[in-house]
Amino acid sequence: MKIILGESAGFCFGVKRATHMAFAATEEHQGERICSLGPIIHSPQLVKRLEEQGVEVVRQVADISGGVVIIRSHGVTAEEMEEIYARRLAVVDATCPFVKKAQEYAGMLSEQGYTLVLVGEREHPEVRGIVSYARNGEVYVVSGRREAEEVPARKRIGVVAQTTQSYANLREVIDVCLGKSQELRVYNTICDATSVRQNEARAIAGQVDLMLVIGGFNSANTTRLAQICRDLQPNTHHIETANEIEPAWFAGVTSVGITAGASTPQWIIDEVVEKASVAGK
Ligand code: F3S
Repeated sequence: MKIILGESAGFCFGVKRATHMAFAATEEHQGERICSLGPIIHSPQLVKRLEEQGVEVVRQVADISGGVVIIRSHGVTAEEMEEIYARRLAVVDATCPFVKKAQEYAGMLSEQGYTLVLVGEREHPEVRGIVSYARNGEVYVVSGRREAEEVPARKRIGVVAQTTQSYANLREVIDVCLGKSQELRVYNTICDATSVRQNEARAIAGQVDLMLVIGGFNSANTTRLAQICRDLQPNTHHIETANEIEPAWFAGVTSVGITAGASTPQWIIDEVVEKASVAGK
């Protein structure tokens, strides 16, 4: 049986950096209390490993009694950052630099009097973080064209996107905003890591009999990857670990494709490849 493993499967730049910073913090701050505000990345297995090294996940700044706080890859809100600094906690800021850029543009546009249109999922923590930097300015979070059409006409509109959005969706929102403003300023804050992984998954799913997509069930980018693959190959399974693989999936299968979300650790990918090659024998 042939196994095709996606070259881009697994950690993106921002997640790799955040994970590295978190493990480095456990060595540097031994004996101190270390917390992360929300899970550092969307991988329950990696969060558990960090917990074993003493990193405790807390929900809010008020739950931190002291010590070191690690900021997750998709960032936190401006208010949370202020609270952290006001309490003089030591900070390891693992916010992905691409997310930070989107936060900065949102702040700048709002300060300069633009109505901010943020293309993204309203409830996603990254979006909540970006919105918070617009301070008291006017902000509309839109998921696509339909919601953009409900934004009122404004003299100056500034557009920023959640880093995982597609270019096609951003383009549609820009198109709508163009008809609603005299001046439109757009910052392309989309990170290529998502589209590269999705295009590769599409190419693989179209040529195999079975597709395995690895990543946290709470990871939006992994769930999206699984959907994309399922559209092309209905025999697609979204799994978190190798333990979920069932030998029956491999009956009559001659080729299997494997991809993984941006927050899936390499050791889990290796275990899946190993188990798939045994199951396919
Ligand atoms: Fe950063 Fe892009 Fe990953 S924004 S966290 S490198 S998907």
